Amino acid sequence: MKKIGMGLIGPGFVAAHHIDAVRRLGDVDIVAVAGSSQASAEKKAHEYKIDRSYGDYKALIADPDIQVIHNTTPNHLHLPVTMAALAAGKHVISDKPLALNANEGRQLRDAAIAAKVAHVVTFNYRGNPLVQQARGMIARGETGDLSFVHGYYLQDWMTDPNVYSWRSDPAKGGTTSALGDIGSHWCDLAEHVSGLKIAYVLADLTTVIPVRYSSGTSAEAFSTKGGSDRQPVEVHAEDLASVLLRFENGAKGSFSVGQVLPGHKNDLQLEVNGRTLSLKWRQEEQNELWIGRHNQPNSIMAKDPSLVSKDVLPYVHLPGGHQESWADAFRNIMSDAYQWVREGGKPEARPAALATFEDGYRSTCLVEAMLKSHAAGGAWQNVQHSPSNS
Ligand SMILES: NC(=O)c1ccc[n+]([C@@H]2O[C@H](COP(=O)([O-])OP(=O)(O)OC[C@H]3O[C@@H](n4cnc5c(N)ncnc54)[C@H](O)[C@@H]3O)[C@@H](O)[C@H]2O)c1
Repeated sequence: MKKIGMGLIGPGFVAAHHIDAVRRLGDVDIVAVAGSSQASAEKKAHEYKIDRSYGDYKALIADPDIQVIHNTTPNHLHLPVTMAALAAGKHVISDKPLALNANEGRQLRDAAIAAKVAHVVTFNYRGNPLVQQARGMIARGETGDLSFVHGYYLQDWMTDPNVYSWRSDPAKGGTTSALGDIGSHWCDLAEHVSGLKIAYVLADLTTVIPVRYSSGTSAEAFSTKGGSDRQPVEVHAEDLASVLLRFENGAKGSFSVGQVLPGHKNDLQLEVNGRTLSLKWRQEEQNELWIGRHNQPNSIMAKDPSLVSKDVLPYVHLPGGHQESWADAFRNIMSDAYQWVREGGKPEARPAALATFEDGYRSTCLVEAMLKSHAAGGAWQNVQHSPSNS
């Protein structure tokens, strides 16, 4: 089988996981990485054992051996890097958020459809087998109509005010912080699993840590490195938010996000309550799906190939009791993405669990509605999502 050539732009934290996942597929050749300078690209290429390195992303995009571009740059570079890749007719796998705001998100969605290539956003929690199990149970009517969709995504890695990276800089991370960074994951998961669309939001945003201390260098995400001569920087973006939701079918919902909540590492939970059954999935216990019942005992479904439905089997790689994890779900998303690439990105060939630029654009619309709701003093705001022209 001829291998597909892949190039990655933005070799930081999440890039390592893109590379690892793609290597596990076996039919993808990692041709090159591009970094913020030639020196940093060479260092990362050496670390990841990749032959070619570029100090300019445009040179990587022009490499004729590369058919698929992975964009794992900081958020402000998602638009120019992805636009350049689409203009060159390359398939694109962009990390989330697709763009800084809904206007940019719409431009990217439209450009990707016009380019007729595979266009993927790594909403990777969709790749968990029990997430797909829950989605199937709801779609088959096993839960009954949903009345309530709720949960949270809580982290603590920004609790230390010495954590300051591009994520806290509005020019690079965007005007939103926790909502764009992890609220985007929660909302995508809630809509994907429930099959429902959020129509209205009412958001309350807070900046718990309004002053952070920058080391002056452009620290990578999650870094507290730097000397004692740190400079204070005012931060305006939210690090804590709670949002009420109204779905198109009349279901209600709510979620909270925060990144300054001690003890919560990657604490993502989604619960749906139907008229017949409730389902709950928690990322930190991702090999279990809780099933809640009114007039029978509740139960827990283990991630086990003998228990999940047939359509979920491609996402399960180990027998029950063998824990699968974040990296395995990420690999599942990459497997779907490259299956779509092999089909030339034809819309009808898209694997159903895969998030596209349409989903990425929708996510930017949801976050924008939340920002508007908060700015209006906590008023209900409708989600403005423009349909595609094609
Ligand atoms: N799917 C997920 O769960 C997940 C997890 C983490 C991050 N992300 C997303 O991935 C993206 C990157 O986040 P990260 O945490 O890896 O950040 P990071 O800061 O660790 O990495 C970004 C990398 O891009 C490089 N870079 C900067 N300018 C560049 C340029 N002009 N050309 C090429 N490279 C350049 C930086 O030097 C750095 O190595 C963000 O959009 C983030 O939201 C997604």
